[in-house]
Amino acid sequence: CGIVGITGKDNAVEILINGLEKLEYRGYDSAGIYVNNGNGNDFLVKVKGRIADLKDKVTADVKGTAGIGHTRWATHGVPSETNAHPHISENGRFYLVHNGVIGNFKELRAKYLSDVHFASETDTEVIVQMVEHFSNEGLETKEAFKKTISVLDESSSYAFLLMDREDPETLYVAKSKSPLLIGVGEGFNAVCSDSMAMLKETHEFIELTDGDVVVVKPDSIEIEDKNGKKIERKPFYVDQDASASEKGAYEHYMLKEIDEQPAVMRKLATEYFDENGNIKIEADLLKAIEASDRIYIVAAGTSYHAGLVGHELFEKLAKIPTEVHVSSEFGYNMPLLSEKPFFIYLTQSGETADSRQVLVQTNEMGYPSLTITNVPNSTLSREASYTLLLHAGPEIAVASTKAYTAQIAVEAILAKKLGEERGIEAAKDFDIHLELAKVANAMQTMVDEKHEIEELAEKNLKTTRNAFYIGRSIDYDTAIEAALKLKEVSYVQTEGFASGELKHGTIALIEEGTPVIAIITDEKTAAHTRSNVQEVIARGANVITIVSRSLSNAGDQIVLPDVHPLLTPLVSIVPAQLLAYYTSKQRGYDVDKPRNLAKSVTVE
Ligand code: G6P
Repeated sequence: CGIVGITGKDNAVEILINGLEKLEYRGYDSAGIYVNNGNGNDFLVKVKGRIADLKDKVTADVKGTAGIGHTRWATHGVPSETNAHPHISENGRFYLVHNGVIGNFKELRAKYLSDVHFASETDTEVIVQMVEHFSNEGLETKEAFKKTISVLDESSSYAFLLMDREDPETLYVAKSKSPLLIGVGEGFNAVCSDSMAMLKETHEFIELTDGDVVVVKPDSIEIEDKNGKKIERKPFYVDQDASASEKGAYEHYMLKEIDEQPAVMRKLATEYFDENGNIKIEADLLKAIEASDRIYIVAAGTSYHAGLVGHELFEKLAKIPTEVHVSSEFGYNMPLLSEKPFFIYLTQSGETADSRQVLVQTNEMGYPSLTITNVPNSTLSREASYTLLLHAGPEIAVASTKAYTAQIAVEAILAKKLGEERGIEAAKDFDIHLELAKVANAMQTMVDEKHEIEELAEKNLKTTRNAFYIGRSIDYDTAIEAALKLKEVSYVQTEGFASGELKHGTIALIEEGTPVIAIITDEKTAAHTRSNVQEVIARGANVITIVSRSLSNAGDQIVLPDVHPLLTPLVSIVPAQLLAYYTSKQRGYDVDKPRNLAKSVTVE
């Protein structure tokens, strides 16, 4: 979910709605705002649906100088107007928005609120009712808020923004495990889950850490840390333009972001290399990895798939044993670790709760870590020992494209540097600066051919119920990501399969016309994958091949310019991203905001 708050601005409504539009990537099943104009008038507007629906519902008389807003990705309770935030206490005094999950909300309700009438099914409503309950017992609002927080169980995660009708210019803020920033202004202050939401108002932000409770007024920000100690924290400057997250002439962010990939590769070549072509990565980070005996890559979703490719890169170029793990599994069922592990967290947003809970644990265990992320100052960046940035620019479409390829490119740069320092031949012979330039050109060729791919989507995927991507070795890694892309935006049930494994069971699913998309960029396995293609054709499959030029023959539908064998995933994924994009568009779906998803999931 995304949350915003503002105090000390006459156009609070406009600021909240603009902010929520920027946060819609965090959830978009329902939304709401509460504003108070300080003269005894206040307004609560909620909808099931998008921010655009909220905007339609906000009439001209809805005005305020302070307010809070929320865009939701449902956890407890279906998406509906009643379950949308802000939630209100029974007597209408307190208003609350929340991102996170309250682990013991049922116990709290039973213990403190047995007489209270609840309007919604959410865990959040328990919190706002508890604040009122403690306030009725005579506590000041801040104390009632703190007391409520003190009885939440360990598993709970929250970013809270609370307003009190009787003190309408004050925002009460608290955070644990869910991201939250204070935007610092002159004569006003703001609160948001992501700086992008407030960049039109300010570039100065204060980070909050777990356990902080903050009282925000137009002219003051008072922070107390988890021990109740008043602290000063300096703001940091966010050097980004609000327009970096606009989609310009493009119909969808997803296509814009696919098209930007060649530019991102070139940007990485300027960010990570000095004028002599040497890689710029801080020596301490290299030393820390060098001192370890094994790399553990931990990530979720598409970032996990970038980790699968990273595994090949670190083992082949740097000869460091590497394991890749899904964060939501790793945290609860940690494998036996090597003696000196080094952790790499791959995360576009830097906020994924599943990955963060592992980082918290490995920090407690004292292990060094690196976060590779697109978002400077994000939670995982701040909490890891080191950060490498993706420099991909804001990624807005829920389906990740340019962040995935940027992650692979950054892993390749790091692996090359590590391998070079360790004297590994494969790394010494690998001119990554030149190879990334070739990748950028090859990606450009693929995006320039988008209309042919659009036709292939129309012919093969527009009406299918299911589909398969197959490949071996590094192409298998790509097949898994390609399948996720197609399923998440077009709702076609798609599996990414090791092509050799198909015959051991899954081939039973191949019927007349089932689309099978084969990725062939690896010389060693090409002939075998070709055989698997024949096996599925013999059973009626409708095959599309995505093949490197040097391995291609006359019947191949999508031919990729040749690049270094370890970097082919950067190129072969592009047509798969385009197939997903066009299939979704042709089916009439909301490409950038697929159903049930959110871009950044800040609950476990
Ligand atoms: C969400 C998104 C995915 C993304 C995953 C991990 O589920 O919908 O596209 O890959 O989170 O996000 P991260 O920001 O950690 O890379």
